Amino acid sequence: MASTRSAVPQTQQSQPVLKIVGGRSLSGFIPVSGAKNAALAIMAAAILSPEPCRITNIPRLMDIDTMSQVLEALGAKVSFGEGWLEIDAGSIKSHKAPYELVSRLRASFFILGPMLARFGMARIPLPGGCAIGARPVELHVRGLQAMGADVRIEHGVVEAHARKLKGAKIYLDYPSVGATETLMMAATLAEGETVLENCAQEPEISDLAGFCRALGAKIRGAGTKTIVISGVPHLHGTEYGIIPDRIEAGTFLIAGAITNSSIVVGPVLIDHLTAPIAKLREIGYSVEPEGLNHLRIGPARERREVHIETLPFPGFPTDMQAPFMALLALGEGTSLISETVFENRMQHASELNRMGADIKIRSNHAIVRGVPFLSGAPVDATDLRASAALILAGLAAQGETHVAGLQYLDRGYDRIEEKLCMIGAELHRIGTNPVLAPV
Ligand code: EPZ
Repeated sequence: MASTRSAVPQTQQSQPVLKIVGGRSLSGFIPVSGAKNAALAIMAAAILSPEPCRITNIPRLMDIDTMSQVLEALGAKVSFGEGWLEIDAGSIKSHKAPYELVSRLRASFFILGPMLARFGMARIPLPGGCAIGARPVELHVRGLQAMGADVRIEHGVVEAHARKLKGAKIYLDYPSVGATETLMMAATLAEGETVLENCAQEPEISDLAGFCRALGAKIRGAGTKTIVISGVPHLHGTEYGIIPDRIEAGTFLIAGAITNSSIVVGPVLIDHLTAPIAKLREIGYSVEPEGLNHLRIGPARERREVHIETLPFPGFPTDMQAPFMALLALGEGTSLISETVFENRMQHASELNRMGADIKIRSNHAIVRGVPFLSGAPVDATDLRASAALILAGLAAQGETHVAGLQYLDRGYDRIEEKLCMIGAELHRIGTNPVLAPV
């Protein structure tokens, strides 16, 4: 039975790159995997139950492997199957998450809430910042303290204790996805009722709430600004399927748009993609539902300039900002992209400019003047969504593009080159980056 564990992590020496031969027209159907950001939170939530949980529609990603290693380091048993994994948190005996794993995967910080709720203690290294921002966690910490936890941060480690978490009324200064998830999970086993206000409303929050309810938790309002959780004494095991990945689906819609092709993407939950679909239509593309849960994107007769501002859901998703910048780099008019969620999420602009784009960055705004064509070049990805943006640009560029930094790509996109080749793209993973190869 094939495992969903991904290939052995790339060694530094190989530094593989993705070679993309641009200019291919795409056609056919491209499949969407389970949502990375739902799966990671739900894997952490499995800690809440002493009974085994089977999670299906799991994407094959490095981040999933790393999260399973974090759970195993705590003593949980994790087994993999074709598209599913099973977590038995009944055997957890350690409350310390290893630094080298947490530093590799920020989302491992999501185990703090469930560990505190079930065991009353947790020792988690503080997740550092990353390429896109400082990524603080004070909203998580302050919320847990409001629920009666003693949380200290010393020497880069979050040490938390709580004999029994107590329900509380908590207002989030910012609708943080992670903080909403941490506090919702912690509240499932707290004494009394917890009201979370100014919550994140992302679909992954609703999926996490669905999983917790399947465990027996009492949660209402997930997906709105206010979530109410009534604590229960314990939770049982379950089997649960993850929602499709809306960001992967949006990335594939742009693959069709940027190559002026007509392709079908699915499965999708269309109300998870309202903002990206609206923007694609505003630019001039046709995006129409097809079948039960698929979308077809078709070429634009003429392309209009747009203004994109990233916002918490249901606003335009920050994870689609880089892919849209690649799309808007090509064509007519001058578009404006404003990144309001993360403080440093426009580094892909300089790499796109190396491919002939005309993008000027002014603080967290990108002024994107469309150009008639991009030219293939060796480029370097700086983060997960930047790597996707550079691949999309490579699909449309004249000539070959070599994208380095695949360690980011493999964290968040499930077999992306295999899927794109299925619809007519030409991508190959090759050993070393020719730019760096010895002369
Ligand atoms: C989640 O990150 C996603 N990651 C991100 O996806 C996504 O971009 C982000 O939500 C926004 O949608 C996972 O779900 C694993 P936040 P998270 O807390 O939870 C500030 C991808 O590419 N903030 O909503 O870390 C923070 O600095 C990744 O798949 C605080 O100030 O996002 C940021 O500016 C990237 N204090 C803003 O809120 C806090 O305590 C949004 O962060 C927490 C957050």
